[in-house]
Amino acid sequence: MNSAIMRGRFITFEGIDGTGKSTQIELLASELAERGIDTLLTREPGGTVLGEEVRRILLDPRRRKVSPHAELALMFACRAQLLDEVILPALENGRWVLCDRFTDSSEAYQGGGRMLGSGPVRTLHRVLAKNQNPWMTILLDADLEKCLSRARVRDRIVKAENQGRFEAESLLFFQRVQKRYREIADRDSQRIVKVDASQSIASVHQQIIDHLDSRLREEQASDADFAALASDITLRGKPLPGRVNA
Ligand SMILES: Nc1ncnc2c1ncn2[C@@H]1O[C@H](COP(=O)(O)OP(=O)(O)O)[C@@H](O)[C@H]1O
Ligand SMILES: [Mg+2]
Repeated sequence: MNSAIMRGRFITFEGIDGTGKSTQIELLASELAERGIDTLLTREPGGTVLGEEVRRILLDPRRRKVSPHAELALMFACRAQLLDEVILPALENGRWVLCDRFTDSSEAYQGGGRMLGSGPVRTLHRVLAKNQNPWMTILLDADLEKCLSRARVRDRIVKAENQGRFEAESLLFFQRVQKRYREIADRDSQRIVKVDASQSIASVHQQIIDHLDSRLREEQASDADFAALASDITLRGKPLPGRVNA
């Protein structure tokens, strides 16, 4: 994996609309701030001037004529810009980056929902997103109707600017998106943790913290194993009689 990703921590939030991504990403950012971790919060599409402009095009319900391939290309244009301008520099400075949606969204929405398939999305990820995979991805997963009705209520209350093209899609579209999300989670089970988003906001947050802490513990354990192995090799590589290794 890229050394930039090893220094900082790149965490993405995924799931269909109304699963609670924006809610949970804020809660995790607060928790990390309390732990004294320098964290950057961003979102897709968007997060840069170019990205926010493209976001307006993509999510504007009056613009109906964006073909599925054009939509995929625009998503990756935003992603490439966000990586170069925001995500990679932050990781290189040792910051943690929390991103609301990333390549899995393209695979689920354009690959699954729009039926372009996973192949083109994975190829574009390698070329345009430099194959930068998150350190951990939180997939919020719950009953489709429940999530969509949460999103509808939210949009009525806050008159969301993203109450647009995707929200107007059919139930069948969202079923395909959810199915593809679950397939991606099964395939990339090392990276993706599936969290039950049907529970209360506090309990979903706790599940996320538990997953995060267990991943950090696993990492510490494997770092310790690696250090022990390295020191063992060094010691065995220096069989000088009488020499004391400090
Ligand atoms: N676990 C939950 N239980 C009940 N309501 C929730 C939960 N998580 C989020 N919500 C509410 O549902 C709506 C959608 O949440 P949001 O975080 O905007 O979802 P997303 O960003 O995934 O579309 C918001 O009004 C939010 O307050
Ligand atoms: Mg959101």
